[in-house]
Formats: sequence, structure tokens, C-alpha cells
Amino acid sequence: MDMEKKPMGIVIGVGNQKGGVGKTTNTLHIAAALGEKGYRNLIIDLDPAAGATKHLGIPIQSFAGTLELLTTEETPQSLAIYEKMPKGVHLIPSYCGYQATQKPDSGGVRDCAYLCGHPNKFGG
Ligand SMILES: Nc1ncnc2c1ncn2[C@@H]1O[C@H](COP(=O)(O)OP(=O)(O)OP(=O)(O)O)[C@@H](O)[C@H]1O
Ligand SMILES: [Mg+2]
Repeated sequence: MDMEKKPMGIVIGVGNQKGGVGKTTNTLHIAAALGEKGYRNLIIDLDPAAGATKHLGIPIQSFAGTLELLTTEETPQSLAIYEKMPKGVHLIPSYCGYQATQKPDSGGVRDCAYLCGHPNKFGG
């Protein structure tokens, strides 16, 4: 494959120190608009509050996501949810809230991965 002729795509980061200013809304709308234009895109939800994940109708703490992406051998391909998403949109859901998932007898990260359900039910 000639990689020089096959662009890898672009990365768009959406962030702002201030809350409630439209980060999630813009992320979802940009992704949906690009999807409508025929581009495939992947939303990586790094927000502990799981804004994009919840907006896209994915139950939080139900699927492996960005936590597993960072801490396991899972890949974006194996974690991406694509069923019931807007056209062209894929999602790696947010990791779980540590406080909600931590068991008293072990580490929060391991328990979070456990509660998220591993491997991902959609991405396969
Ligand atoms: N362009 C806009 N015009 C009017 N309302 C908007 C616009 N963009 C977002 N909103 C509304 O503002 C509120 C906050 O938006 P959003 O959740 O996207 O912000 P956020 O920056 O992701 O917030 P948080 O910091 O809590 O994650 C929502 O109710 C959303 O519907
Ligand atoms: Mg948000």
C-alpha cells in the first residue's frame, strides 16, 4: 500500500477550560456533519462526565472505552461503537467515573475496566 497517497485523516481536538460552552455539542455536530458528507470519523470521549457518550445514547459504565484504550491491549478498532450511531460516526465511549466504580478492596482502574464490560459488546 502506498501510504503517501492514502492520508491518515485529521485529528480535531475540542477542549476548553470553561464548562458548558459547547464542547460536546460542537464535537457531535462536527462529527455528524462530516458523516453526512461521507467522511468516517471517530469520537474519542475523554470527558469523565461522558458527555458525548451519553448524548449518543450509550449507557455509561456498560462498554469498554477510553480507559481500556489507555490501559490495555485494546485498539481503537476493537473498541469503537458503530451500531446505532449517526451516519459515519464511531465512538470510543468515556471511561467510567472512578468514584462510582471503585471497590474497597482493590484499585479503581481495574474495577472500572471490570464494570465497563470487556471486551466491547459492539466493536467486537
Ligand atoms: N451554539 C449553541 N447555541 C445555543 N446553545 C448551545 C450551543 N451549543 C451548545 N449549547 C447548549 O449549551 C449547553 C452546554 O453545551 P455542551 O454540553 O455542549 O457544553 P460543554 O462545554 O460540553 O459542557 P461541559 O463542560 O459540561 O462538558 C447545552 O444545553 C447545549 O445544548
Ligand atoms: Mg461536554
